[in-house]
Amino acid sequence: MSRKSVHRRTVLQAMAGTGILLTLSPGFLLTGCDGGVKATESGALGLDSEEYDVELNLRATSDSVPILPGAPSEVWRYRVELLKGPESTLSENPDSYLGPTIRLRRGQTVKIHIHNELPEDTTVHWHGLHVPSDVDGQPRLPIRPGETMTVGFEVLDRAGLFWYHSHAHGEQGGRVGFQSYAGLAGLLIVEDDEELGLKLPIGENELLLVLQDRTFTGTNELVYLDGGMGAMMDRMRGFLGDQILVNGAPPATRKVATRPYRVRVLNGSNARIYKLAWSDGRPVTIIGADGGLFENPEDKPYATLAPAQRLDIWVDLSDSRLGSTLELISGSYEAGMMGGMGMMGNSGLPAGSQFNLMALKVTESVDTAETLPVQLALERKRIPITDATRIRQFELSHVMMQGFAINGRRFDRTNVADDERVRLGDTEIWEFRNRTPMPHPMHVHGLQFNVIGRDANGNRRGWSGLTQGLVDSGWHDTVLVMPGETVQFAMKFERFDGLYIYHCHNMEHEDTGMMRYFQVQG
Ligand code: C2O
Ligand code: CU
Repeated sequence: MSRKSVHRRTVLQAMAGTGILLTLSPGFLLTGCDGGVKATESGALGLDSEEYDVELNLRATSDSVPILPGAPSEVWRYRVELLKGPESTLSENPDSYLGPTIRLRRGQTVKIHIHNELPEDTTVHWHGLHVPSDVDGQPRLPIRPGETMTVGFEVLDRAGLFWYHSHAHGEQGGRVGFQSYAGLAGLLIVEDDEELGLKLPIGENELLLVLQDRTFTGTNELVYLDGGMGAMMDRMRGFLGDQILVNGAPPATRKVATRPYRVRVLNGSNARIYKLAWSDGRPVTIIGADGGLFENPEDKPYATLAPAQRLDIWVDLSDSRLGSTLELISGSYEAGMMGGMGMMGNSGLPAGSQFNLMALKVTESVDTAETLPVQLALERKRIPITDATRIRQFELSHVMMQGFAINGRRFDRTNVADDERVRLGDTEIWEFRNRTPMPHPMHVHGLQFNVIGRDANGNRRGWSGLTQGLVDSGWHDTVLVMPGETVQFAMKFERFDGLYIYHCHNMEHEDTGMMRYFQVQG
């Protein structure tokens, strides 16, 4: 984020003919979040309790880190410090500039001091967690540059893989795509007694993967989009980088032993959909999703993972030969009409390309009796629905010259329409109908839901090769709605009233307005 204009020229030359792209240059950084909603007081939001089990200092700051061979790259990152609580709360991956993994126990109370050391507004959203509206990191409560906001909450969710990322949105549009692209994202794991009782692989046998795609200049500067015609197309489709990063580094080989592994994956990309598969064609054994473990494991030929979604995968290498390698890949698929007509022109790695994510090289022979439990989760019943359960309909459409919309509406600060008010304590079915040529990973803040079903009668607009991998079992906070599809899911608005958000988690769609507030009325 140097102030030298030479950077800008270099980038423009390097990118000539591929649309207008910019690095993390200061002029661009400062166009974000001026205006917007009022900043809050710096007092603690959320819990009233004086005593917290865990206390963290979290700084959103800029840094320069080695990502590719050669020059370091300018990034924005979360630095987190443990002030109080178990040592195991934070784990830093020395090779990654992403935020450290925050590991919490269900029932803990947590207090976090968030310091904004960036040149623009930011927020920190605890993606997937059931937390009060005021600590949810929504754009209505921005943290101004140089300010600190303290939030507190109790960990109410059952065990699962969640994540934290920025959620800033100002008068001139959203900054989620930019800020998380710059590096403001990290994993958050919730543990509980039920899951620990299963004795699933832990420590070095639990592989945590954050999948992202990035574009770099010849001098390793991160490149994101800017206004201009090429970028308009990029925003409509969502940003696709031409280099895959796993935990903030190029895909690598890991040495493993002849034993089972638990592979927990977050799609932290702005817009790319992954088709996870094993190189030897073995099925992908899925044991959980966004909201924790399934009741029973499920085999699929491949697993479709849209932005913001998580998957928990079991892979058993007990029978592997010493010296053999198994690769986790993203397989190829057809990316529809948006894939043709020059729409994919700005990425060297178009949607639906095949590439490797991780190689597991078996270098050690061990004896272990660990097997996949047939019964995983016990505790949680699906949300009960009846014929009388209210169905709320949402149509996903495209408004000419503006962008994608939900029921014809686009992001409008905290304004909530009459059909966006729900009652605390109610169970509802939300139905999303996708009338656009693009898939939309739809996310609802503050809760986990059950997918009831999807109806694919519609025209998929040329998207194919992803459907068999869609994961609808268990609990989710983000569901992929393919072109032409209608998807229904059930949720219960419990415990917390107030404003929450629902939006598409293709970050460019979200940033350009495919996002709305809804209100839970007490
Ligand atoms: Cu992952 Cu509204 O967010
Ligand atoms: Cu979308």
